[in-house]
Amino acid sequence: MSVFRIQGGETLRGEVVVPGAKNSVLKLMAATLLAPGLSTLTNVPDIEDVTIMSELLRRLGCEVKHVDETIFIQVPLRPDHRADYDLVRKMRASICVLGPLIARCGAADVAVPGGDNIGSRGLDMHVEALRKMGVHVNNEHGYLLAECEGLTGANILLDFPSVGATETILMAAVTARGESVIENAAREPEIVDICEMLVGMGADIAGIGTSTITITGVSDLTPITHRVVSDRIVAGTWAVAVAMAQGELTIHGVPAEHIALPLEKLQATGAQIDSGGQTIHVRMDTRPQCVDVVTLPFPGFPTDLQPQFIALNAIGQGASLVTENLFEARFRFVQELARLGADVRTDGHHALIRGKEKLSGAPVEATDIRAGAGLVLAGLVAQGSTTVYGVSHIDRGYAHFVETLQGLGANILRVDE
Ligand code: EPU
Repeated sequence: MSVFRIQGGETLRGEVVVPGAKNSVLKLMAATLLAPGLSTLTNVPDIEDVTIMSELLRRLGCEVKHVDETIFIQVPLRPDHRADYDLVRKMRASICVLGPLIARCGAADVAVPGGDNIGSRGLDMHVEALRKMGVHVNNEHGYLLAECEGLTGANILLDFPSVGATETILMAAVTARGESVIENAAREPEIVDICEMLVGMGADIAGIGTSTITITGVSDLTPITHRVVSDRIVAGTWAVAVAMAQGELTIHGVPAEHIALPLEKLQATGAQIDSGGQTIHVRMDTRPQCVDVVTLPFPGFPTDLQPQFIALNAIGQGASLVTENLFEARFRFVQELARLGADVRTDGHHALIRGKEKLSGAPVEATDIRAGAGLVLAGLVAQGSTTVYGVSHIDRGYAHFVETLQGLGANILRVDE
């Protein structure tokens, strides 16, 4: 078992290049199922979730080969249509094969992922939308069993701009008969990325990046070579790290508009931010001011940066209120932050954080990817030594996490215990 050992107190300085987004690449890998033949994805991050998704695609009959940051996926004429529980339980994003499998095979048996450490994660919008498109879906023995005679386009008004449901509908609709309209669609950069890839494969999609997406079904799609959009959450994590530890950082590869609100919040903490093109420069010379944050779907503040901002507020001047609107259990990690001396009280969707001048190092346990990132950032500024357990969560979503921080001057080691 690996742990991260951190000696707090170093400032951070240097440059980072941000890899492709976890929350895009997994769906793009699933989308390759829509066209038999060889598809190629570039800018693929070296993370555990990509390994799990590759294994899932292999079980569906694909040949998958990784060469550095490129992944080659050879999709068979007749893929298998079963996603087993042993893989789905490792990575709930496996559910993203549901849409392409029903489109390609007319059937999909996908294990129900269940909840995880950030809360119960519903699938009702995915299922309801597929039913509207003519799919029979039953939940039996822990599997969603979906089948249809032929998908037909439908008008779908989502209760909430769900990222996953928008992706399932997109992948089902691109080859459905007739027109589908998704209203209240998600608008995340990762949604724009998958739409652009599908269009490159021959799909007819209008309204990309807006909350009304119109898809006119085409008879078939062709394989593609596509570059994965860079990971705005990784970029935001490094920016917060510098705002906490102080120093100077240039982040390459991510347009500032993908994290406009987090960057505005960092400016409010006292950080100097300059951006242009695909480069963001962050400089911090003082202890941060606390900032309030409310998580919402894009372009609102991303829930995936909420734990990192709680960590920042924990050492900030003043007090702040953080409101979590997406995942009800995402505050669980504050009990671990409290082990470092943070003063955080939670009540339902709200966390009240009173900034402390100093945190003190201690052993802590990461319970999910972003909680893990938040705890590491806190460890970087805590006095003395912090050991972070549960780092497999961090490895699922951050490529070369320790090496990147070491390159910026942090005193952090991966140790096998
Ligand atoms: N929801 C339902 N029913 C549904 C679909 C969603 O109730 O049918 C609820 C969820 O339970 C949740 C909320 O709607 O409370 C948002 O869910 P959404 O579908 O938007 O999220 P997701 O697709 O499950 C993706 C990312 C998350 C990220 C969210 C929001 C991937 C693999 N995961 O999840 O990433 O937080 O969008 O941006 O793309 C992470 O990277 O740490 C992570 C959790």
